[in-house]
Amino acid sequence: DPQKVLDDIDYQLTLDPKTLVELVKAFLDEFRTGLSSYNHPMAMIPTFVTGVPDGTETGTFLALDLGGTNLRVCEVVLKGDKTFSLRQQKYKVSDALKTGEAVALFDYLADSVDAFLTSHRPPEPTEPDTVNHQQMDDVPDFVPLGLTFSFPVEQTALNSGKILTWTKGFSARNAIGNDVVKLLQDAFDRKHMHVRCVALVNDTVGALLSRAYTGGGCILGSIFGTGTNGAYVEQVANITKLGNSPAVAQGGTMVVNTEWGAFNNSRSHLPTTPYDNSLDRTSINPRFQAFEKMISGMYLGEITRLVLLSLIDAAPKSMLFAGKVTKVVNEQWGLDTSVMSDVEQAWESGDGKDGDVIPQFEELGKGEEGVKPEFRKKLERVRKIVVEKMQYEDGEVSLRDAAIVRWVCHLVARRAALLSGVAVAAVLLQQGRATLPDTEGKFDKRNGKVGEGERILIGVDGSLIQFYPNFERTMRESIRALVGGDVEGRVEIGLAKDGSGVGAALCALQAMKQY
Ligand code: BG6
Ligand code: GLC
Repeated sequence: DPQKVLDDIDYQLTLDPKTLVELVKAFLDEFRTGLSSYNHPMAMIPTFVTGVPDGTETGTFLALDLGGTNLRVCEVVLKGDKTFSLRQQKYKVSDALKTGEAVALFDYLADSVDAFLTSHRPPEPTEPDTVNHQQMDDVPDFVPLGLTFSFPVEQTALNSGKILTWTKGFSARNAIGNDVVKLLQDAFDRKHMHVRCVALVNDTVGALLSRAYTGGGCILGSIFGTGTNGAYVEQVANITKLGNSPAVAQGGTMVVNTEWGAFNNSRSHLPTTPYDNSLDRTSINPRFQAFEKMISGMYLGEITRLVLLSLIDAAPKSMLFAGKVTKVVNEQWGLDTSVMSDVEQAWESGDGKDGDVIPQFEELGKGEEGVKPEFRKKLERVRKIVVEKMQYEDGEVSLRDAAIVRWVCHLVARRAALLSGVAVAAVLLQQGRATLPDTEGKFDKRNGKVGEGERILIGVDGSLIQFYPNFERTMRESIRALVGGDVEGRVEIGLAKDGSGVGAALCALQAMKQY
């Protein structure tokens, strides 16, 4: 029965509020485990960033950003009035570089910085803003650079840390276990460049710092893009694995990079489907990044493709595209997440019913004539996108096919956004800003009173949260289910614009005070 096949997919990809609560509890457990000892998948990395900026910081810095869609080199000028200016150049990183020898990758990074410095006037060396007169003679003779390296790195200081593992399609050889700052500095030195890598940040930390700089505070920086991750402000006293390091004696707070993409790698709690299993098995890092593989832009297109393929191949009769495949639906990674975004945009925009309406097939009737008028225009638009982006011929895609494609995209993306909300809610709970609901989903009266009136600022970046229709709205739906409407209502999610550049610059500034 075709309807049963669809109902089954719906069931597998739908998350109920009870599951969300179980997930957030498991999340908090992994937070605590990662804060108390080393070598856990969710690494809870102390970043040695002990304060957040307030917008008064000044200076000019270079920043290099590796790990998102693009490699970027930027020159950032922090103006000290919560604003900054930035000039940047984007470069492509080929698959050959991502998966070849690390030395070649780092040489390419150095070459990109060199190319940037050649085409843009190099910034003047910057001295720390609090430098005293005696030190003024020692203005450094190098260009300070902050590196945003969006992979798990066990930091030992602001400017050093060992690469723990690659994620997101990178697998360069002879990198893991090495100090990423040294790998980069060696490449600069091989080329006799007067550039010094003085600070290292994860992109999530960059997002947090930049939102704090421009917005006057921030408790969480998170990325929903090619990958997903979050960094939040934690009490040093809770980071018990630091033992009696000097940071502990100082007390106060420290930013922790959670690496939440690795949440529940055992998949004991994540609602894993056969599509997820298939994706994982054929990925370059099976059994790693379980959470990220259900959420981020690198993977959503592939999950969707696998669901569509199962409908194309349905027996005894194909349920999609009359059984015809194209290169896009037949090849691993053939379907980009941006196509899902285009499909959903086509459905959402303009006329007709909006929002979360999932067209049930009764409503669509038996044939094209049976399509309800309020859905026809929407489906015509979706069909156009499917034809164009999935490389079908005009006559090969029916309105029913279009409806199914849109519905699958919606289910996969909705699950991703709800899971993203679990991660954000876990941070709010960990910081003591809320309490969990009871078994009925009701909140204690005191819940909304914790920190009543306080703004809760969150910095975000990444292609999904920026461009995927309704991603943030759906994410908020699950935050609300987990921490209640009072707390969720105070959460201000803001784009950490150029977070990596500004974050790296702010860290470089911090580090320069030590030179
Ligand atoms: C960019 C940041 O804006 O967003 C990167 O500069 C970050 O550091 C990236 O990794 C995340 O988004 P995406 O979609 O490019 O992975
Ligand atoms: C991956 C990386 C992490 C990064 C995230 C977002 O999860 O491991 O370090 O922050 O992607 O780019």
